[in-house]
Amino acid sequence: MKKIAVLLILAMTVVFAGCGSNESADSDKKEEKTEDTSKEDAKDDSAEDVLADGVLTVGTNAEFPPFEYVGDDGEPDGFDIALIKAIGEKLGVDVEVENMEFESLVASIGNKIDVAIAGMTVTDERKNAVDFSDSYYQAVQYVIVPLDSDIKEASDLNGKNIGVQLGTTGDFMVEDFEGATAAQYNKAVDAVNDLINGRVDAVIVDKNPALVFEGKFSDKIKALDFSFEPEDYAIAIPKGDEKLLNAVNDALAELKSDGTFDELVNEYIEN
Ligand code: ARG
Repeated sequence: MKKIAVLLILAMTVVFAGCGSNESADSDKKEEKTEDTSKEDAKDDSAEDVLADGVLTVGTNAEFPPFEYVGDDGEPDGFDIALIKAIGEKLGVDVEVENMEFESLVASIGNKIDVAIAGMTVTDERKNAVDFSDSYYQAVQYVIVPLDSDIKEASDLNGKNIGVQLGTTGDFMVEDFEGATAAQYNKAVDAVNDLINGRVDAVIVDKNPALVFEGKFSDKIKALDFSFEPEDYAIAIPKGDEKLLNAVNDALAELKSDGTFDELVNEYIEN
């Protein structure tokens, strides 16, 4: 059965190839025209590949304000969401956002979702599974503690029970502190609630969400900067999909040069 199918495809290819060569032999002018159209086709193709159906399906984990959170209308909102929608506009495609667990984002890229934007730090390990766009934001891990905590510097985290969001760079850092244990949560805010309830000693989470949580519960907790290694956020893209990678990077560069990017930073992050 398979053999027959292969033969059929081969036969058809030969027939089509034949048509092509007959036509192109007709005249030089026609050849030129054919070439022009095929160039246009190639251009269309890249948009199409980005998105066979004209839709860019984006995975996020809307538990990370101000980059992503569930808005009043129940839909994901935040800096990342606005940024990827602006990128979609540049690419001429619709953007559909899927809210999922942070932990499953990387494995879903290329199947359930086309790309992921989730305040995701570029790491060597993730690079084994996905490619990353140019970085769009620099971040750093902060430590949240109760107002009366005895944790004053990084080494005070040794031996502590530290709340983190599962599968994040904050989670991966806990092993750097001798004798410390990671209490893993699906949402950073749940870790923060347990910090307030006294079930964990500290929470490690990225700076901007840490500042949002601090602002929300400023009568109970504070966010500390221990000058950990800076991290770069980027959009995760299926490994090897150069067309999509270039399209996203071009759109990102345009948004930076036309001022849209800074407007979004002002609107969502630095306010
Ligand atoms: N930057 C950290 C990481 O990449 C945390 C990201 C968490 N993002 C989220 N949307 N929950 O691991």
